[in-house]
Amino acid sequence: MTYKISDDFPVLNQMVNGHRLVYLDSAATSMRPVQVLGAIDEFYKRAGANPHRGLYDLAQRSTEAYDGSRAVVASFVGADFEETIFTRNASESLNLVAYSYAPLVLTKGSNIVIPISEHHSNLVPWQVLGRQYGAQLRYLYVDRRTGEIPDSEIEQKIDKNTKIVAFAHVSNVLGGLFPLAKLVAAAKAVGAITILDCAQSIPHMKLDLHALDVDFAAFSGHKMYGPMGIGVLYGKRKLLEQMPPFLFGGDMIEDVREQETDFLPPPSKFEAGTQNGGGAVGLAAATKYIESVGWAAIEVHERALMRRLVEGLKSTKNVTVIGSTDTAAPRYGVAAFNVNEVHPHDAATILNDFGVAIRAGKHCAHPLLSYLDVEFNACCRASLGIYNTAEDVDALLEYLPEVRRRMNLGD
Ligand code: ALA
Repeated sequence: MTYKISDDFPVLNQMVNGHRLVYLDSAATSMRPVQVLGAIDEFYKRAGANPHRGLYDLAQRSTEAYDGSRAVVASFVGADFEETIFTRNASESLNLVAYSYAPLVLTKGSNIVIPISEHHSNLVPWQVLGRQYGAQLRYLYVDRRTGEIPDSEIEQKIDKNTKIVAFAHVSNVLGGLFPLAKLVAAAKAVGAITILDCAQSIPHMKLDLHALDVDFAAFSGHKMYGPMGIGVLYGKRKLLEQMPPFLFGGDMIEDVREQETDFLPPPSKFEAGTQNGGGAVGLAAATKYIESVGWAAIEVHERALMRRLVEGLKSTKNVTVIGSTDTAAPRYGVAAFNVNEVHPHDAATILNDFGVAIRAGKHCAHPLLSYLDVEFNACCRASLGIYNTAEDVDALLEYLPEVRRRMNLGD
């Protein structure tokens, strides 16, 4: 029997409603291979003590596993050990920057610039912090047809009062790559810092955060074949050093006196309390798994599948593709669409009857879905991982016409 990547993912090998499970929701969370599950299991079976605290063997093993995982994850994204902070997820990473860094720079009359397509994790913190410090939240409006950010938006919105430019590398709805280099250059030109949400891009492309030259970056382990509950905030060292801790507690202090505390340097300064040792080990294992499959193979495979998916959606009667329909323009991981006249929740529920799992709704991007002016202000989204196959894409395309039939809307 030939080896298939999906064989490494036991969860995918099951029947749903009498059909083979077709998992097309990896942008919400990707599944975990046995290599990741085994690494977590091993951590709790062989170590499992509190990292950084004990002098006995189990504690030393836990410390080595935790710190070793940080080194692996840092190297995976082209960052230094001290610049790589473990958090719960990308949302927590972005909140950490918002609460700890933003107060250092936001003043009345300043502004924060983000694309209208941002996920709530990279939008709501800026609404709240902006309001608190009297800073305006400005949006870069994407072209509704192509999903791209026009240069004119960047030129008009980023100005001398801009302090923060925060943006996703890849939108979780539109799927195209945002113009990172242009945004970084525009921000630098006015002395603003950049925050990259790379949660959606990290499973699909090799990232080198030093080379990208963003000031901060956030991602989650669970979207890159790692466990839930572990994420990363990357920050340039000089910025992390200026920032106060976000949470206070154990293992982030140098010394505590009755009225004062000295904090450890980053990354420990931002990791109060018992660490997610199993999560860190699992995330490191996920990076090794991705590397074992290989970036070149992943890119070729996913590009071909995405093209098949978008072409198939485009040629399915009564299906409207959202965002770019140009199959030559790369999309990373996600394809959004609607079945005409059918609420996306109904479409997803019907597809589930055939074992096909997609996400439907507003995708934690309410402002984008209102702005795009699509039917129901919501959409369906099929998203791909390395384990998906042409058969998975074809299953979605095969069952899509059933959606309108079941709703008595004809073909
Ligand atoms: N951010 C995740 C998604 O886009 C949950 O589905």
